[in-house]
Amino acid sequence: MKDRPSLGDTPPEIFRKQLHQLADWIADFRENISKLRVAPNAKPGAIRAALSAQPPEQGEAFEKILGDIDRLIVPGMVHWSHPMFLGYFGWTATAPGILGEIATAPLNVNAMTWRTSPAATELETLVVDWVRQWVGLPNEFGGVVYDTASVGIMHALAVAREEAAPSTRTLGLSARNLPRFRIYTSDQAHSSVEKAAIALGLGEENVQRVPSDAEFRIDVAALRAMIERDLAEKFKPLAAVATVGTTSTASVDPVPEIAKICREHKMWLHVDGAYGGGFALLPEYEWLTKSWSEADSIVINPHKTLFVPLDFSILYVRDLERLRRVFTLVPEYLRGDTIEAEKNYMDYGIQLGRRFRALKAWVIWRSLGRAGIVDRLRDQMRLTNLLVDWIKADKRFELAAPVVMPVVCFRLVGGEHELVASTASPARMDIVNSEIVERINASGRAYLTQTKLRGRTVMRIGLGNVLTTEQHLRNVWELIQNTATEFVTR
Ligand SMILES: Cc1ncc(COP(=O)(O)O)c(C=O)c1O
Repeated sequence: MKDRPSLGDTPPEIFRKQLHQLADWIADFRENISKLRVAPNAKPGAIRAALSAQPPEQGEAFEKILGDIDRLIVPGMVHWSHPMFLGYFGWTATAPGILGEIATAPLNVNAMTWRTSPAATELETLVVDWVRQWVGLPNEFGGVVYDTASVGIMHALAVAREEAAPSTRTLGLSARNLPRFRIYTSDQAHSSVEKAAIALGLGEENVQRVPSDAEFRIDVAALRAMIERDLAEKFKPLAAVATVGTTSTASVDPVPEIAKICREHKMWLHVDGAYGGGFALLPEYEWLTKSWSEADSIVINPHKTLFVPLDFSILYVRDLERLRRVFTLVPEYLRGDTIEAEKNYMDYGIQLGRRFRALKAWVIWRSLGRAGIVDRLRDQMRLTNLLVDWIKADKRFELAAPVVMPVVCFRLVGGEHELVASTASPARMDIVNSEIVERINASGRAYLTQTKLRGRTVMRIGLGNVLTTEQHLRNVWELIQNTATEFVTR
């Protein structure tokens, strides 16, 4: 009987042809990305409505599927890799990063134990240590790669919880007469702190938001006062989370002072360097890492600043064994896989199955080298400073926060200029600032975000994309100025 080819994989000669086709598709996409709208103008649900709601009964040709990606999916995307995408934190797509992702696909391994994936395990240990060296962390810190910083902080606080309330791993939290734990972080910190408290049964309410100072850094005196008040009320301070590069303004908390408080009260210190941590590669940003050696855990997201494609986040723990103790659990069916004295990354978190994330990091970091990364981050700062100069030169605008990294928050205030709109109250200007961002994003020509600082709406630009040139930034700034003119005359 003749073989039924449809039951196996695609024949090699056809697969090779499809790969070439896909290679061309990727190269064309990258080359022409700036011609695309940055964001779609589709109404919610419109993309789903254009797709078949019925699952496919028969297999379809790759050419047809690729055609539909072009026709239906690409126009429905916000293109984070577009040079005029300036939302959130810029983005990390690069050609070597894409190659790293592609090379990972055919391997399709599960990096749960050393045995199941020796090279994936050892490469993860290696690249995690490269970043440790780059940011100057002492080698008592070991790391593990997770998808995101949110998952990283949850694991870090699980260890903090276990060390403050031993046997929680075994007994759980309930019916044990434990004190109510508190976690402190600034009013600028990321919501992943609360998410971790929710997941760990510590309670969202027990994350205490400490006010920040005029430069959006945690107010250390207020932190001390909150801890004293909590102690008097029989709460137990468990941890403090210091942010190096906050989400709205990239402000940096005074880690040395927070570390001192953590020492005094035997609290866990977690440094959230999800965004800012990568800048520690630059000698001029060495100050960021002051007292990191006193931290218990640190998160850095190379998918935000170190050019690794999403997702790739590293959690460092001072003495990684502390993390392993909380999460190691070897089911019988894997016992034979864990006999070597090698790391089994399934022991360092709740995930069993793990992607081979280290390969793409190894490819991009070898391709750029430290020098290539540093040059690119410096160029982001050069562009950032240009934008700051342009904002200062147009009196209708003001900077809304100090600029520490390639994140610029600014606001149309009107200045002395005649307002097209009838009133210039701060509340009215909130709406105007928000409307400018909305109009620009709806135009498809650029993409910005907005945030609130001290209760006021501001526009926000995050640089980070290797494709964004000075000319792109000039074009965006002109677009902002022109859109602002619809509200405030020049
Ligand atoms: C300072 C900070 N911490 C944590 C996070 C959460 O990152 P992730 O998406 O990797 O969970 C973000 C996200 O932007 C962030 O800005």
